[in-house]
Amino acid sequence: MELHLKDKVAVVTGASKGIGLAIVEAMGREGVHVVAGSRGSTPELDALRDTFDITVVPVDLSTAEGAETLVRHAVEQHDRIDILVNNLGATDPRPGFLEVGDAEWQRGFELNFFSAVRASRAALPHLLRAQGASIVNISSINARLPFPMVVDYSAAKAALTNLTKSLSEEFAPRGVRVNAISPGPVRTPFWTAPGGFADATAAAAGTTAQEALDVVVPQSMGISTGRVTEAHEVADLALFLASPVAANITGAEVLIDGGQNKTI
Ligand SMILES: NC(=O)c1ccc[n+]([C@@H]2O[C@H](COP(=O)([O-])OP(=O)(O)OC[C@H]3O[C@@H](n4cnc5c(N)ncnc54)[C@H](OP(=O)(O)O)[C@@H]3O)[C@@H](O)[C@H]2O)c1
Repeated sequence: MELHLKDKVAVVTGASKGIGLAIVEAMGREGVHVVAGSRGSTPELDALRDTFDITVVPVDLSTAEGAETLVRHAVEQHDRIDILVNNLGATDPRPGFLEVGDAEWQRGFELNFFSAVRASRAALPHLLRAQGASIVNISSINARLPFPMVVDYSAAKAALTNLTKSLSEEFAPRGVRVNAISPGPVRTPFWTAPGGFADATAAAAGTTAQEALDVVVPQSMGISTGRVTEAHEVADLALFLASPVAANITGAEVLIDGGQNKTI
């Protein structure tokens, strides 16, 4: 399918690893000019810069200035923005609600909600100038299926899904579409990094991190396809929603969870 994304300008947050990196790569292949924000780069992101038009802006997007800096770079370089992907999100495994203090709640909302609020506020004046602009928010299945292990993250993602709908209502008449993608477990450093969710699941199940992600997680979470999602699969969906092919899709929350969510 031709996505008609060539020469669009996209800002992607949380772009150095995992889903963000996969989105940058997929956009690069489509001829999108990508401005990628994360605190640092990675060898994988550096390698993509050799092949595609990708600018890496080192920013801490949990701060008030981070989003403005990222958007300013994009506009200074390309004079416009067509696509914003609010991909940044992070959490750590929590023992339970009583162990999560104000600092963790605050940080959870800064990373998973306010980063998207600020990036959207900074980018929207430019998106409104573009033709057929769009925002894609990477939310989570936990927005509707909250887990005690990620109580603050679940609440912040619910807020992000809710924000998606508000923004879509306000800006659709002015030509900017806003959609959310809610993945179930995706094989990224979020799970596979040392001390991440694969290690925590492996410790609880008495197995290895690899086995935890390949077998324990799909079985215990009821993933009907029997496997977790791959980052490139989320990236393909993000590109579709961002593209003119999805020109009449706005305010949608699209699940990519292998059938984990059992409700209609
Ligand atoms: N993986 C899953 O199972 C899963 C499931 C549902 C939803 N999601 C959502 O998908 C999105 C991407 O997740 P992922 O699994 O790809 O995560 P990841 O592998 O942990 O990558 C996170 C990215 O965010 C960047 N980042 C972290 N803190 C940052 C900060 N303060 N400022 C700027 N950049 C920062 C990281 O780079 P630096 O460390 O260099 O800053 C990295 O590029 C998130 O919104 C997550 O909630 C993931």
